[in-house]
Amino acid sequence: MTNNNQSDALVFFGATGDLAYKKIFPALQALVKRGRLNVPVVGVAKAGWNLEQFRARAQDSLEKHGGLDRAAFEKLNGLLRYVDGDYQDAATFQAICEELGGARRPANYLAIPPALFETVVQQIAKAGCGSGTQARVIVEKPFGHDLASARELNRILHSYFPESEIFRIDHYLGKRPVNNVVVFRFSNAFMEPFWNRNFIESVQITMAENFGVEGRGAFYDQNGAIRDVIQNHLFQIMCSLAMEPPVRNDSETIRDEKVKVLKAIPELDAKNVLRGQFRGYLDEKGVAPGSKVETFAALRLELNSWRWQGVPFFIRAGKNLPVTCTEVFARLCKPPTIMREAGLSRNYMRFRISPEMTIAVGTNVMGADETMRVENAEIVATHLSSPHEMEAYERVLGDAMAGDPTHFARQDYVEEAWRIVNPVLNPAATPVSPYEKGTWGPADDGQRVQPPGGWHNPSVAAPESSAATQAG
Ligand code: BG6
Repeated sequence: MTNNNQSDALVFFGATGDLAYKKIFPALQALVKRGRLNVPVVGVAKAGWNLEQFRARAQDSLEKHGGLDRAAFEKLNGLLRYVDGDYQDAATFQAICEELGGARRPANYLAIPPALFETVVQQIAKAGCGSGTQARVIVEKPFGHDLASARELNRILHSYFPESEIFRIDHYLGKRPVNNVVVFRFSNAFMEPFWNRNFIESVQITMAENFGVEGRGAFYDQNGAIRDVIQNHLFQIMCSLAMEPPVRNDSETIRDEKVKVLKAIPELDAKNVLRGQFRGYLDEKGVAPGSKVETFAALRLELNSWRWQGVPFFIRAGKNLPVTCTEVFARLCKPPTIMREAGLSRNYMRFRISPEMTIAVGTNVMGADETMRVENAEIVATHLSSPHEMEAYERVLGDAMAGDPTHFARQDYVEEAWRIVNPVLNPAATPVSPYEKGTWGPADDGQRVQPPGGWHNPSVAAPESSAATQAG
């Protein structure tokens, strides 16, 4: 079946950059391998390169990130084109048009800093490649810096592209374990009766990383944990956990439900935020002296919806924590009077997003020694990721080129997400406390953000099978 919405070329700006090297070339090779990419791919950058150097970069990227597949790489090589030039210069965009030949529906992927978006989209529109009417644009996060800048970016993009042709990437939406949260919730009848304020006491989402800013100090210091991963990746997980069942399966109905979750959340109050910075951050290259930017943040959010009112959602993310793991832990209420109290622990639902996918329910069973004690036992619905599953970037790039916006952040979504965190973005809004590397963040003496029963700190087994197959 032909898809009239399918892009007939991909132009990617920032082609010699880090993102292209680590994520985009591997995703392109995977798309070719799966038969989803068979159109010209035009890399654009200002590096003084030619096509051969660009191809060599692609090869090097694949050898380092994911592995080179000889047959797929040959095909990809045949699709690659390269334009070297300044984004301010109209001649660069004329050269792109020539490389595009007869393409009518090119996808323009802006893997470049947001400060360059306006120049590039203006030039694309002026050059009129792809007849100017059917082109689409794919943009990378961070989408703005706060509510005002996100609105301004939206205004700029909307001056040249309709919302239906704007694809804002959040690569967490390309992860199967994130999408599985929604599928699991809405394809199992037993979930609905307890997945609400009557049975769930609190929900925690933890994104822990056991490494620091890894040479990205200058970028990170402009952002911090809230902007880098909470406002986008972790809010997407929260929306998948909290949304209502969509009444139809189309992209807009699904995205409407996610936006409704955000609409139900009041703006964050500083008292519900704990910020931390690992010791040694100030010595990282690119970090401003005396920086107050957080490398750890924990938030307490309220969802004023029918389903969730009174159930606090706790979100935390940090660099240099003890493990690398993203996990959801939803704690159920205590059952009424019971036969055996000793050893009883709360029931919980656990969704592990990475390093491997797990969906599990914590239960109590009669202890093996026949005493009055009960023991905790987990029912595991699924565990481990498939070696054949798509990497997040393969999924989002393939979907954007196919014109399916389901796994992309819509304008109203990004603006609502910024609205919630906006009051606490200024580092002066809340103190930032130091923490040692390899710990679970700063001490929360003021009990600012303490889930009932305490934080659930995920533990990760030694990396043998699971870590090797993570979704990316
Ligand atoms: C990026 C952040 O968006 O996501 C990084 O900028 C973070 O700081 C990364 O490490 C995590 O992505 P993943 O897919 O490895 O969990």
